Amino acid sequence: MNFTRKDFPEGFLFGTATSSYQIEGHAFGGAGRTHWDDFAATPGNVVRGENGDRGCEHYLRYESDLDLIAAAGFDAYRFSTSWARVMPEGRGPVNAEGLDFYDRLTDAMLERGIKPCATLYHWELPSPLADLGGWRNRDVAGWFADFTEVIMGRIGDRMYNVAPINEPWCVGWLSHFLGHHAPGLRDIRATARAMHHVLLAHGRAIETMRGLGMSNLGAVFNMEWADPADETPQAQQAATLYDSYYNRFFLGGVFNKEYPADVMEGFAPHMPEGWQDDFDTIAAPLDWCGVNYYTRKLIGPDNGPWPHHHEVEGPLPKTQMGWEIYPEGLYKFLKRTAAEYTGDLPLLVTENGMSNEDHIVNGTVPDRARIDYLNQHVEQVRRAVAEGVPMQGYFVWSLMDNYEWALGYEKRFGLVHVDFDTMERTPKDSYYALQKALT
Ligand code: NOJ
Repeated sequence: MNFTRKDFPEGFLFGTATSSYQIEGHAFGGAGRTHWDDFAATPGNVVRGENGDRGCEHYLRYESDLDLIAAAGFDAYRFSTSWARVMPEGRGPVNAEGLDFYDRLTDAMLERGIKPCATLYHWELPSPLADLGGWRNRDVAGWFADFTEVIMGRIGDRMYNVAPINEPWCVGWLSHFLGHHAPGLRDIRATARAMHHVLLAHGRAIETMRGLGMSNLGAVFNMEWADPADETPQAQQAATLYDSYYNRFFLGGVFNKEYPADVMEGFAPHMPEGWQDDFDTIAAPLDWCGVNYYTRKLIGPDNGPWPHHHEVEGPLPKTQMGWEIYPEGLYKFLKRTAAEYTGDLPLLVTENGMSNEDHIVNGTVPDRARIDYLNQHVEQVRRAVAEGVPMQGYFVWSLMDNYEWALGYEKRFGLVHVDFDTMERTPKDSYYALQKALT
């Protein structure tokens, strides 16, 4: 890598991130059914119909996986807790085995000197709650607060930091408007409600954790830079609206108690009754803000229904996902988030990384492209630090290759290669490069 720890302020955290459904193996340990199991069981939704039943068998192999994190020199590990593993029906009875797992996982991190950074919800909603309308139903906020109480009542005393929801845009727009993720809806009314309720659930979880006496609580937003596809004012307007519903909706709600006016032009008739009264809960004070960053999009106008725009293929080099590599977008978001939303609050890059066509060659995995990608993005974090943005950490997505949702196990994001037949782990060149930089 072209950086070392000395390039960052004292105490700056380097970490790596995963999520429960993507790695644990949902079939193990008495977890309940989730809407991702249902979504994957419907033909056409997921590449090869793959689901998280086996994941990376992390449920069985978590100790050696944590050894890999520790040996790389990471300070922190961002993991998530599966709601259906802890409460198989989403409400009511608790699966003791599930709670025990997160308890053991936490202690195993602490034994290795790794700071546990938890996300309470990384997308696998228990099916019985999905059947009740899931994120469309306002009651989801209360159910989520109850789950928060149960899981954090058990492990909250040992968390370094916690965020309730991973990437609310994906929970809302990607899953209810574009239909690419569970529950696979394409419905503006469902989207408006899901996007509001996910923030309400976030706020209720923060309140619940404050009630448990916890601190260092934050939020994790995915941000995608939007540039106009051409010079016309129409393209500019289209890119601005994309930025509004992708990025500013959530930041605006949580930090400024308002939603962008151009999003409300589409959403207003579909918002749940009394939504304006929820901002005091949604904007519960936070201790940090996390940014997940991967790419940018070029947006052009079209004559279709709201939001009247479409994506245009960009000219920059792309990752295995087809995502343009645009490191400067990370810098721009860090600067803008601090200037317009978070002020002095510490910011963390809670996810950054790339998928790549990685292969084992004579026992090693040469992934020069990933080393370059990480170098270029870390450089932008340094730029932000140099200009006074209060950066607190940087987390690589992901520790190991895993279940990339609708794209199944084909897309490899890991620092560690996983052979999905044998479950063998092979650290890639990027893993060793980071190890050299961090230890
Ligand atoms: C963000 C999500 O949090 C994670 O689940 C996903 O695998 C990565 N992006 C890569 O797409």
